[in-house]
Parts: sequence; structure tokens; C-alpha cells
Amino acid sequence: MPTILQVSNLIKRFGSLTAVNQVSFEIVEGSCFGLLGPNGAGKTTTIEMMEGIKQPDGGTIRYRGKPLGEQFRNEAGIMFQSTALQDFITVREVMRQFSRFYPHSANIDELADRFALHEFLGQDTRKLSGGQKQRLLLAMAMINQPKILFLDEPTTGLDPQSRRNLWDQVQQVRAQGATILLTTHYMEEAYELCDEIAIMDHGRIIAHDAPDALLAAHFNDVVVQLHATDLPREIGEPEFDAVYRNDSAHIVTGDVNQTVENLLRLDIPLDHLRIRARDLEDLFLELTGRELRT
Ligand SMILES: Nc1ncnc2c1ncn2[C@@H]1O[C@H](COP(=O)(O)OP(=O)(O)O)[C@@H](O)[C@H]1O
Ligand SMILES: [Mg+2]
Repeated sequence: MPTILQVSNLIKRFGSLTAVNQVSFEIVEGSCFGLLGPNGAGKTTTIEMMEGIKQPDGGTIRYRGKPLGEQFRNEAGIMFQSTALQDFITVREVMRQFSRFYPHSANIDELADRFALHEFLGQDTRKLSGGQKQRLLLAMAMINQPKILFLDEPTTGLDPQSRRNLWDQVQQVRAQGATILLTTHYMEEAYELCDEIAIMDHGRIIAHDAPDALLAAHFNDVVVQLHATDLPREIGEPEFDAVYRNDSAHIVTGDVNQTVENLLRLDIPLDHLRIRARDLEDLFLELTGRELRT
């Protein structure tokens, strides 16, 4: 598939801070591309330059080989942050108002059906739950039947059920052929939805590939995970080089048999033992020495 959107050496400065520093990547038409990084990494600044909302201080952005223009504006859909919703109006009114901006709007009832919003059409937008509001914002982004969709942290603050629900919606949009650029600080979200991921930190891309390829390139070991109470720090740290996160102890090992043998020898209870593959959270920690969610 051809490249739909290409950024080269993108730069954005705010005073002495370089928020986006020489960022380059290409998005393949029909794919889902994820910018993954912690708060302050420069994701929103990058996506807003690509949307044409912020002016870059350097670098170029090309949509279908040309600078952003009329065609881009007609073919792009942007999921706004919830603060952009007007108070005191119904879901149907919001959608209707929004559809007037575009010559080729989707049918509002069809969109409402598709995003499970039908029963809320007459409702004041203030009364929507977090998940319903995000579905409305996604439906609004789809109103011009976009070829490329921009989603900036689409599920931040949602409960796990609503998050999963929104992932399904995004996957459906994708299945119908739209290209998606999303930003997130949830590694599960990037892993679940994206074909390609660029990991950002301090305005730079520090790794970029398909999620599984990123993991395969950096790791050939697994994590043996136990409850922290089963493997006390005074044993876990010296004996296994274990890392403690929340209530669990993580042992990174290339030899699971040997690790389990050692645990048994030390009479460590294995009732809560879990073996997992390394994930993007581990990769971020490996690359930066910090956790993704801080
Ligand atoms: N309008 C602005 N003025 C000054 N600094 C800004 C502005 N917008 C963003 N920043 C700074 O730029 C950096 C990147 O921000 P942002 O792109 O919002 O990161 P992310 O979306 O990854 O959390 C942060 O340090 C942020 O404080
Ligand atoms: Mg942001």
C-alpha cells in the first residue's frame, strides 16, 4: 500500500523547549500508526502539526505526496478532546451542527447506530458517561467519512470496559479501510490496535517498528512474575535481580527451568506464578530507564 502521510524532520519549539525534535515517519494507507509515549513526550504537539492545527518550526508534512491543503481537509477526521463539546445541546444537535461543515456528511442516524448512540440522540451531551462521550466524539470525527482519522489519547480516563468498547469501534473503522493515527500512553492500546508504533520520549522517536518486531529485536527472554509477598525483596533482589512493580515481583530470565528450580530450592510458593512475554512497557523501561506511566 502507498504512503498516505509523511513527516520529515518535524520540529516544534516552545521558547527554549524543543517539544518535537526531528521527528520523521511515514504512515501506510489503511494502517493504524501509534505514537506511544509518556505525558509530555510531544505526542499531541506532533499530531496537531499533522492535523494542520499547529505550525511546525521545521520539517515537512506531506499528504498523498503534497503539502496539507484542500484535499487533506476534506479527507481528514479529527477526534477532539471532550472539552470541545458544547453544553446544553443534545447529541443529535451536536452531530447535525457538525455535519454542516462538510459537503459529504454521513447520515446521522446511521452513524448513531454504528457507534451505539441511538438511544442517546435526544439527550443533553452533559449527561453522557465518559465512554458514551468518547463514542460521540469518534462519531463526530467520522461525520465527513474520513480517509484518515486522528485520535489523540482516545481512551484516557475510561474504565477498562469502555476502553475495550472503543477499541472495537476503532477496529471497525479501520476494517472499513480508513487510515488511523493515534497517540496513547497505554501500551496495551498501542499493542492491540497498531500495525506500527513509534515510541516517543522528550520530543524524539526512540524506537519505531511493528509491535512484535520491536519486542523481538530487543528481547529474547521472558518474565517470571510472582506476588511480591511470595518473594520478599530481601530474597528477590539479591538472588534473582527481581524488579518490584505494584504488588508483584518480576524476574527477567532467559532460562525459565533454571529460575523455577532456584525458586523451588528456596521454598518460594509458586501458586501465583505467571510467565509472560516482554511487553512494550518493558521496552520503554529498557530504553529510558523510566516507566511509561509516571
Ligand atoms: N502551548 C505550549 N506552550 C508551551 N509548552 C507547551 C505547549 N504545548 C505543549 N508544551 C510542552 O511541550 C511538551 C510536549 O507536550 P505534548 O505534545 O502535549 O506532550 P504529550 O501529548 O506527549 O503529553 C511538554 O513539555 C509540554 O509541557
Ligand atoms: Mg497529549
